[in-house]
Amino acid sequence: MNIIVTGGAGFIGANFVYYELEKHPEDKIICIDKLTYAGNMATLDEAMKQESFSFHRVDIADRAAVYQVFEQEKPNIVVNFAAESHVDRSIEHPEIFLQTNVIGTSVLMDACRKYGIRRYHQVSTDEVYGDLPLDRPDLLFTEETPLHTSSPYSASKASADLLVMAYHRTYGLNTTISRCSNNYGPFHFPEKLIPLMILNALHDKKLPVYGDGKNVRDWLYVGDHAAAIDLIIRKGASGEVYNVGGHNERSNLTVVKSVLAALGKDESSIEYVTDRKGHDRRYAIDPTKIQRELGWNPTVKFEEGLEKTIKWYLSHQAWWAPILKGAYQNYYEKMYANR
Ligand code: NAD
Ligand code: DAU
Repeated sequence: MNIIVTGGAGFIGANFVYYELEKHPEDKIICIDKLTYAGNMATLDEAMKQESFSFHRVDIADRAAVYQVFEQEKPNIVVNFAAESHVDRSIEHPEIFLQTNVIGTSVLMDACRKYGIRRYHQVSTDEVYGDLPLDRPDLLFTEETPLHTSSPYSASKASADLLVMAYHRTYGLNTTISRCSNNYGPFHFPEKLIPLMILNALHDKKLPVYGDGKNVRDWLYVGDHAAAIDLIIRKGASGEVYNVGGHNERSNLTVVKSVLAALGKDESSIEYVTDRKGHDRRYAIDPTKIQRELGWNPTVKFEEGLEKTIKWYLSHQAWWAPILKGAYQNYYEKMYANR
């Protein structure tokens, strides 16, 4: 099978590329990526050595360029990871989130309609459900939970989900959607909580915790997300949505303290800073459907995954050092100075 993976030079897309190359060596993986600030060819170094992998530097919102890739590569499956993915950036600059996350999704699905496809899979997020209160641990997001977004990022992802459902119903496009909780693991861009805290702690910098640090996220090791998507594209039913998560809720403060403890650092570097605007309080996924229907289960416990992730950052300075030296410095200064 020929599988187009968009956003494969980013965090989860790249982990999915490596998962597929290993699990299904008979398949061809075709990566489409614009290489924004979050895309990194160094992440794909090993994939580029393999014959069954090819790369196209293309914007998913560029119709002519996308159609050309479809004509050339004749994909059977498209998995769309490509997105602007950072909530804080969406609060500063919403436009690009609409362009990539909404328009880009429609262009990809138009290409699927034009050239024919066995499955279009949209990689979505638990953020489309909004948030849950801290004092109701019994409440979880199911696939039936109404969409109720908070940030321009989550609104753009929910818009894309609605478009996918519309293309399924109106044009009969064979689609699936996965809505996953927060991922962590190798190749995670340093703007996100866990890698930011690991790298700041390593450099003895302050660890900026938004608000009171009690916001809860439901963490899943990235390899488990890749395995879930692999199952969905091969065995999931067309038109369906699957929630993906491992019942692993942690407050941000707990996560930051775990990172410090694992690195043998004290907690004096923790600094409470101004809260994110519209900050979602708690996410929690009910993954019963994918467990029951597709037999998916998470395999990596948080403590084990965090240890693996920290070890990966300690041994991959060559990956993150160039990122920290580049445009990221200006970003960090702008977001965190005087916060
Ligand atoms: P990321 O920001 O690390 O990577 C995004 C990738 O998409 C980059 O390689 C970037 O260059 C590429 N890209 C951006 N705009 C593009 C465009 N217009 N055309 C082509 N490529 C483009 O993101 P991530 O964390 O790996 O997230 C991947 C997907 O998973 C996103 O759709 C995100 O919404 C979803 N998701 C993320 C998480 C998480 O915890 N990170 C959880 C659930 C769902
Ligand atoms: O839930 C899935 C989502 O998880 C994905 O859809 C998004 O693409 C992904 O970026 C992530 O969104 P979050 O906003 O949850 O992740 P982030 O790492 O930005 O923040 C996690 C929590 O940590 C959140 O409550 C904000 C807080 N935070 C974050 C940063 C960067 C801090 O307290 N300090 C920080 O410096």
